[in-house]
This record gives sequence, structure tokens and C-alpha cells, in this order.
Amino acid sequence: MYPDIFVIETLNTHYVLGVDKNGRLNHIHWGKKADPEDYEVRDNWEQNSNHSGLDYTDMEYTAFGGTMYRNCAFKCEYYDKCRDSVFTYLKSEQSDGRLAVTLCDKSYGVELELTYLYSDESDIITRFVTVKNNSNKTLKIEKFMSAELTLPGTRPYAVKNPNGAWGSEFLTKTTILENGTIAFESRKGTAGHTNSPYAVMSAPNADEDHGAVYFAALGYGGSFKVEIQRDFAGVTRAVLGISDFDFSYTLKGGESLTSPKVYMGFTDGFAQMSNMMNEFAYKNILPKSFAQKPLPVLYNSWEATEFNVNARQQLELAKIAKEIGCELFVMDDGWFGRRYNDWGGLGDWSVNSEKFPNGIDELIDGVNELGMDFGLWFEPEMVQEDSDLYKAHPDWTYHYDNREAMKLRHQLVLNLTKKEVCEYVFDCMDKMLEKHNIRYIKWDMNRPFSEIGTENLENGKELWLRHTMAVYEIADRLKEKYPYLQLEACSSGGGRAEYGAMEHFDMVWTSDNTDPVDRLDIQHGYSLIYPIKCMRAWVTDANNTRRPVSLDFRFGVSMQGSLSIGSNLLNYSKEDIEKSGRYIELYKSFRSVIQFGDFYRLKNYAEDGFYSTQYVSKDKKKSVLFINSNANSFFNARFKSIRLKGLSPDEKYRLTDGDTAVIKSGAYFMNKEYALCLDRPLMSKIIILEKV
Ligand code: GLA
Repeated sequence: MYPDIFVIETLNTHYVLGVDKNGRLNHIHWGKKADPEDYEVRDNWEQNSNHSGLDYTDMEYTAFGGTMYRNCAFKCEYYDKCRDSVFTYLKSEQSDGRLAVTLCDKSYGVELELTYLYSDESDIITRFVTVKNNSNKTLKIEKFMSAELTLPGTRPYAVKNPNGAWGSEFLTKTTILENGTIAFESRKGTAGHTNSPYAVMSAPNADEDHGAVYFAALGYGGSFKVEIQRDFAGVTRAVLGISDFDFSYTLKGGESLTSPKVYMGFTDGFAQMSNMMNEFAYKNILPKSFAQKPLPVLYNSWEATEFNVNARQQLELAKIAKEIGCELFVMDDGWFGRRYNDWGGLGDWSVNSEKFPNGIDELIDGVNELGMDFGLWFEPEMVQEDSDLYKAHPDWTYHYDNREAMKLRHQLVLNLTKKEVCEYVFDCMDKMLEKHNIRYIKWDMNRPFSEIGTENLENGKELWLRHTMAVYEIADRLKEKYPYLQLEACSSGGGRAEYGAMEHFDMVWTSDNTDPVDRLDIQHGYSLIYPIKCMRAWVTDANNTRRPVSLDFRFGVSMQGSLSIGSNLLNYSKEDIEKSGRYIELYKSFRSVIQFGDFYRLKNYAEDGFYSTQYVSKDKKKSVLFINSNANSFFNARFKSIRLKGLSPDEKYRLTDGDTAVIKSGAYFMNKEYALCLDRPLMSKIIILEKV
């Protein structure tokens, strides 16, 4: 009576679902392809007083109810206080790379529509769920994950996720999950700096090139949760989505709610995962206007001038920025309201007339005349007591009357669940964009939520989702009205470096830690699943007194992402300026290889004592290789070697390493170790290969 099998076919994989005799949607297969005719729904094969058949059923999307004790994907309370769900098959549609299966809890008229988008160009499947309340009664959703994944077999999987902090984002750890549940989450309102909203689960011996890797990344950067559980039978499952901590959502009769998206895939090795997501991101996830365009080399003023900005000094910086080859000049914090330090000003997004007595166009026009675009920093979700906005609207923040507000960085979070607050935030940026030639906004968010009172909401627990969606909506509105506008998402460094932000912003700020040595580990972790082109990477003067690092090394690190400059160029010597110019020129000649090519992590500090990454153009004609030694490299550890990847084995390439050049086949470079002598601490090398 049920259409039993649905096969989703991607480039190399099958993802298979089936409806069992009870009408439940089962997960059947995810991995390499088999004959579709062979897939079948199995009967639940064990039942005793402690384990029902359900315990052994691989549900495609587990709703809490009956004996479903595993980490569920969905939980709700119906109008009559019933919290037991029974969703069975209702209908399905499959065509043109889209499968939608609708399940229904027939006693309550509530539907779950599970949507899958796929193609034969990659192995990434995009998933989301819509819950529809077709009754005329109220439904309270208590857990609403975007997807559940069931991994094959009963062996333990190795699970990766960062355990980071502000200034040390993306420091990735691996745990073998033998039993119980591991959860990666944020309860802060943004994705934050600690865990990242993704699940990467691999065969324990998987490496860059081989081994089963199952992964899913969540397109949501509010408070999120990823739960991965290995059950009593050895089966590993993951659910990921909006955090259910302090969350619920009320759906009145006739209303519906769609979950954030999940991008999931199965690959052989981690390099394939990174490359598939990298390409999928610029083809399918990032906002269309700049997704397939190379990002400009920008200058950002923050580390050079902090809050102390004025037109003359910014123009002096801009002149040198132009001279070395920057294409865009971003003035960071300090230009607005009473913003003399981080104690005041947030909320008042009009130009500080003491710092800019002739208005901001003096600077913008100057930058434009130099031939660069101009960008500006905002922190739209915030307000400070020392601001006109707070004086006018003290009730526009999240707050409880009986609790003293925690003012991290002396600031409070605006209640974006209020329409009028969203309008104010949009208008502030809109006014600046209307009046001035601003083509880039760095949207910052520098503190997590606290005292999360929302007197305006009937169900206060909706705030986490509503706030995040409001941010995305404002970003989308700005982009729609100003199609030339580039948006950078930042949250005290990498707190918003995730796919939720990347669906609406063109790039992200990776970390406030711009020390180039630390940065290598941060970039390494970031690159696992996030697109290279979105990774803004500044060359700065950071830590130069505590750990002197050459300008060559700094460029050698920042060129591995979207190269940007954040140094105080006013202190640069003539030699530094010339050198920077040469590096930026080199970067531009390889920019599309770096931002859109295939990417390989060849070596890293922890395992190899040095870093090496390689980028190869999609047509395999050009490749660039970055090598960074560690602080110890000296006599003992100087002899190193690398094998290249991703070249055409039969084509000849000219490899240029400083003053020497050799011509050999791709196979030679990929199969024979290339010897390196890294005999100086923190040395940087850039090796280039071009097809001859
Ligand atoms: C945050 C950002 C920085 C900079 C400052 C400005 O820390 O991450 O890049 O913009 O705010 O206050």
C-alpha cells in the first residue's frame, strides 16, 4: 500500500528511504551506489519487554513518542497536552533533484514535510523540514532539528569539531564515539567560538585521502545543537538544528515553520569533503551576487587605528593601501556616535562630527579617487547606555526588570524580535548607504545574549530563532536594495563563521587572533568544511614584539585565504611597502586558484612540524603551494619533504621554487617526495606550478 522505496542519486552516492508496513519512514542506505532494485525495507527484528522494534528501526526523522528514547529530531506538545507523536507516511513528490516526503500525525492534523535537494554534480544533499499545523488548535514545538542522519554499520565513528574560544577558533579535536552522546552546541545566541554547527563523522582511520567520511553542516548560526549518539546496538546517529535548550515555538492553527537547511554528504577522505563543500558553497550557498566572483584584497583599519579615526589619517592609510594593491578600504570601529572607546556609541549610527567635521564623504571620495571602494563597520544588534538610542528606547534591549543586565564589552543586545527595532536597525544602515558610496559592510556582533527577557513575545522561548532570522532578513533586505553591497559577518572574530551566516553574507571574519603562527592552526581547522574564499585573513603587526615574525611569513599565511591587510601601513618602511606590493600582485595572479580551486592540506604543525597547503585550479593548469616552518625548525628538523596532489599525472609542469625551476610531470610531483630544507624558524615559502 505504501510506495516503499525512495532513492536519491547524487554524483557518487545513494541516499535511500523507505516506508515500512506501519507507515513509518525508515532510513535504508547512505553511501556508495548499489542496484536500486535491491533496496528494501526490513522488518524490525527484535522485540522484548525492554526493547521494542522501534529501538532497532532506523527512523529517517525521529519524533518523540512511544518507545522512541533516542535523541529525537522532533518533539512537540499538542493542544490537549499530549506529547506523544506518531508520524506516518502521507504523500511524496520526487522530480528534478527534489524529493519531498510528507508525514502526518493523523490524530492532530500536523504534518512534517521532509525536503531533499540533490543533483548529479556533487554528493551534497540539502535538507530541511517544514512543520505544518493544519488543525485549528495551537501546537507547541519543543525540538525541531533540521535533519537526522543514520550512519551505516555498528562500528564506532571518529567525530570532529572544534573546541575553541575567542582568539582560538576552529582548534579541531577528534573523539572516537564508542558510547553515549556527544553534543556540540551554542546557547549564546550566535554560533560562538567554541563548537561549530556541523557533524563530521568518519571511519577512525580516515585521512585526507581515504576512508569513509559522513558530514553535515547546518545553515544556522543562532544557538544550535549537534547531537551524535551511539546506541546500545552500536548504531551512530546524529541530529542537528536549532538548539532545543530554552527553546520552544508556538504554531497557531494554519501556521507553518521551516527549519534551517543542512548540507550533508559522504566522501572518501577529508580532502574530498572540504573540496566538495568549498565548491558547493560558492555554487549554491553564498549570496548569488558575489558567490562566483573573486573577493577583493581589502585594507581594514581596526588594528592600526582602533577607535581613533579621522579623515586625514585614514586617507594616509588608504594611499599606502592603494600603493601596495588593495582594492577596497574598510574603516572599522570608531566613526560614529560617541564612540571614543568601547564604552559608548553603539546604537547611534551617524557620523561622529568631531572626528569628521567635514562629513564622511571627504574620506569616501578620497578613497574612491584613489581607485578603491569604501566599506564601513557596524554593530547593528547592539546598544550602549551612553547613546541617544538607549536614552530614547531603554526598553529595546532584552532584559528582565528584576535582573541587573550583564554588560559584556559595556553593551546590551537589542531585542530584534520587535519589528520597530528591526526597522530602526535597517534604516540606520540604509540611510548611510543611500547617502554615501559605501560598498561593503562589516557586520559585527561582539557579545552573547543574557537576561533574555522579551515582554513583547507571547512565547519568550522563540527569541533565539526570531533574533537570528531577523539578522538574516535585514542582511537580505540590504543586499536586495543595494546589489553591489558586499557583507562580511563578524562576531568578535569567528563567532559567526558558519554556513548560516554564509547564506546571507559574502564572507566571514575568521578570528581576532591575527598572529600568523596561531593563525595557521585556526585556518587549518576552518578549512575542514568552510569555503576558502570566505575566510578573510589579514596581514597585521600582531604580536611582533613578543614573537617577531617576518612580513614574508605574514603574507605566506594570509594569502592562504581572502588576503587582506590590517597593519599600520604608516609604520611600513619603503622596503615593506615594495614587498607588500609584490606579494599582493602575486596573490592576485593566483587569486582565483586560491578562492575557487581545489585545496589540499598537505602538512600541519601538530603532525608534521610544519605547514603546507596546496591550491590547484579546476582546469589543473596552475597550482600554488604554501610552506610555513615552525619556530623550532633548525638543524635537527630542517629536512622535510612533500608530495603534491591534484595535478594531471601526464601533463608537464614547471615548478618554480625561488630562483630554481624544474619541469617534470604531474605524476612525478605527486609520487616522488619533493625535498625541502626548512632551516630557519618561521620561514615561509611559496612554490608555484604552471602547466607547460
Ligand atoms: C571585534 C571584531 C574586530 C573589530 C572590533 C572593533 O572585536 O572582531 O575585528 O572590528 O570588534 O571593535
